[in-house]
Amino acid sequence: MGNTLLLFISFFIFSLGHLEAQKAPAVYVFGDSLVDVGNNNYLALSVEKAILPHYGIDLPTKKPSGRFSNGKNAADLIAEKLGLPTSPPYLSLVSKVHSNKKNVSFLGGVNFASGGAGIFNGSDDGFRQSIPLTKQVEYYTKVYELLKQQIEASTLEKHLSKSIFFVVIGSNDIFRYSDSKDLQKKIALQQYVDSMASTLNVQLQRLYNSGAKKFEIVGVSAIGCCPAYRIRNKTECVSETNYLSFKYNEALQSMLKKWKLENKDISYSYFDTYAAIEDLVHNPTSYGFANVKAACCGLGELNAEFPCLPISNLCSNRHDHVFWDPFHPTEAAARILVNELFSSKYTSPINMEQLLAI
Ligand SMILES: *[C@@H]1O[C@H](CO)[C@@H](O)[C@H](O)[C@H]1NC(C)=O
Ligand SMILES: *[C@@H]1O[C@H](CO)[C@@H](O)[C@H](O)[C@H]1NC(C)=O
Ligand SMILES: *[C@@H]1O[C@H](CO)[C@@H](O)[C@H](O)[C@H]1NC(C)=O
Repeated sequence: MGNTLLLFISFFIFSLGHLEAQKAPAVYVFGDSLVDVGNNNYLALSVEKAILPHYGIDLPTKKPSGRFSNGKNAADLIAEKLGLPTSPPYLSLVSKVHSNKKNVSFLGGVNFASGGAGIFNGSDDGFRQSIPLTKQVEYYTKVYELLKQQIEASTLEKHLSKSIFFVVIGSNDIFRYSDSKDLQKKIALQQYVDSMASTLNVQLQRLYNSGAKKFEIVGVSAIGCCPAYRIRNKTECVSETNYLSFKYNEALQSMLKKWKLENKDISYSYFDTYAAIEDLVHNPTSYGFANVKAACCGLGELNAEFPCLPISNLCSNRHDHVFWDPFHPTEAAARILVNELFSSKYTSPINMEQLLAI
């Protein structure tokens, strides 16, 4: 009896210690509309802004917030899983610096992501303005320089080396290639995806040179299955677009392997969203979904011929739809994907839990 109690207490203390060790102090987010939490609202020219109803309808405020979702997106949900507040949009923080209203801290994490952004500068052309990845990383290096002035070097190094650098980008580069016959004529598919991976590599190296050590890298999803593409193929997925994503993910993974060999103190977890979404689309009921084809909010066939606007159709059950609008997942779908970051089904070489424990 006494021994059992002792064992129980030891286990409890061990578990507490274990949990404590797994915490990350902050998340720094880079990417596109899948993880933008409001940066684009600060871009005067951008037409890619989630500022109208029904965006945000399932947030506590029920109001649009710049998130391309009915509710929370993957940037919110990863913070939630780590017990941290959502990393605020970089442009909201620097606008506060200029107005001197608040004592801004970059230590709690920063989100640099921007709807429409790509690995390549030109991939946002259709949206008139975004913050391409190179620019996002440039902003991060500014933050790093500021932090170096504010905090002792070894404290900063420790903070950043324990923080998670969450990178969700590539879809807009794939969409652009998929939609442009000119680009396809100019650059062969393999060359294009290799160039995406090597350009991303340069940016990851810049982050590493500025303190980053732990990376959560998300591949590109089976984006030929989003409602906007399905309507081009009698509601079935567009194979060529999916093939592009698949080939890019291959190039991305081999780049990451090589990168880690060159820099031993890097840790990363790669998440195969492609496989995760494919499983979800093929086995919707096992995940609690009823509709994998149509957007919840939009107009026309599959609610995907026109964007989600105040006059659009709105489905009554947001929990049973994989897609919120013609391009973006619902909070319900994003939640499943973020939970899967922490398991080993679609992650390699390690999962998020293991990344945190390093
Ligand atoms: C601003 O934040 C820093 C570090 O968090 C703190 O040391 C300082 O006292 C704060 N300044 C004001 C005016 O609140
Ligand atoms: C993107 O544009 C920036 C200037 O804003 C430039 O420094 C950078 O080299 C460009 N990146 C790529 C991949 O073309
Ligand atoms: C359309 O969908 C079918 C069925 O999934 C697939 O076999 C075909 O390759 C698709 N066509 C295109 C152009 O993607």
